[in-house]
This record gives sequence, structure tokens and C-alpha cells, in this order.
Amino acid sequence: MGKYTGIIFDLDGVICFTDKYHYAAWKTVADKLGVEFNETINNRLRGVSRMDSLEIILERYDGSLSAEEKEALATEKNELYKKLLGNMTPADLSPEVKATMDALRAAGMKLAIGSSSRNTKAILERLGLAGYFDAISDGTNITRSKPDPQVFLMAADFLHMAPESCLVVEDAEAGIAAACAGGFDSAGLGEAAQCGRATYAMKTFADLKAICGV
Ligand code: BG6
Ligand code: MG
Repeated sequence: MGKYTGIIFDLDGVICFTDKYHYAAWKTVADKLGVEFNETINNRLRGVSRMDSLEIILERYDGSLSAEEKEALATEKNELYKKLLGNMTPADLSPEVKATMDALRAAGMKLAIGSSSRNTKAILERLGLAGYFDAISDGTNITRSKPDPQVFLMAADFLHMAPESCLVVEDAEAGIAAACAGGFDSAGLGEAAQCGRATYAMKTFADLKAICGV
């Protein structure tokens, strides 16, 4: 085994691809408010909590909303999103992702989730990954979302490991910033590979095997 004994995976955009569902649900809410919402704005929501995502969408809202009204909009978005998650099945788990994680685990590494999503456990269940990870740190146990490192620091803590022994795998720039702030090395996919701050820029998920010396 190489430098890392633990790997902390972001969920949305790394293990699964829920982006289109988040987009569709937020779009319905934005349309109702008469607020512009497009793919570029949606990209800013990656890794960001539900309420912080709503605040980004409301940057274009001409008016003011009470805390209760914001809460109701976030709930409405989540109900739509949960309905769409009902379309997910274990067939949505990429064979490359599963085979790579199996290989890392077989080499003795501990695997954890570090996600801002409060729907993490429901998504893992839909993918057939309930009980697969050694630890789960998600939107239900944090008070600050990425780029704050709290979600990853708690994941490392759940694994009983120090940040320097763990590698964070991310697709969002906010996630790479969170890893850096927490003292973790990081491996970036997509936008996170391009941002120039990831320790490793990956082309594909299976690159993790070479990074971890497996
Ligand atoms: C992150 C997504 O994983 O979870 C964000 O990248 C999302 O787009 C955040 O806003 C919170 O998700 P949820 O499921 O708690 O609304
Ligand atoms: Mg992500």
C-alpha cells in the first residue's frame, strides 16, 4: 500500500451522477420564481449545501423572502429531487467505479463518503451500496458545507485516521478547496481536475489505483 490508508469519496459527480436531477428540480423552483437558471449557474451548486444552493439561485431574485419561505422552497426542491431519485437503480453504478473501489478495498484501504448531501444514505441504497462504506460523513452530520473542510475532517475521524493518511476524491472546485483547507491530498475529476489545486488530476476514476499504488 502507498501513502494513503483511507479514501474519502464525494458522492454526487464521483460515485453517481445526480446532476441532472438536481438541475431539473431547481429549474422547476426557479421557473416558479421567475428567476433565470441555467447550466452555468447549476455548476456553481456542485458540492454546496441545499440552502446555500438556494441562496445562489436567489441572487437573481428581485424581492425578499422570509426564512420560512426559503425553507418551503428548499423543501419543494427536495421533494421533486427525491421523486427523480426514484429512477436510480444499481445499474446506475458504473462498473468502473465499483471495480476500482473493490480493488482499493481488497488492497486493505478503508473507504468513506464525504458528501454535503442529506440524501446520501437514500442514494447509496438506490445504487446497491448500503453498508458498503466503512464510514459516512454527510449533510446530516455537518453544520458547514464545502469549501469548509468539516465533512472530510469528520469522515477521517469516523475512520480513526489523520487527514494526511487520507485521499479525498472530488469533482467540484469547492470540494478541492475543502480538502486543501483540511490538510488532505486530493484527486480531482472533471472541473476539479482542471482547477489547478488538486494534488492529482484524474482522467478517469480507475486512475485511483495508480495514485494509491494498487
Ligand atoms: C452535493 C451536491 O453533493 O449535495 C450539491 O453536489 C447539493 O449540488 C448538495 O446541493 C446537497 O444535496 P441535498 O441532497 O442535501 O439537497
Ligand atoms: Mg460532487
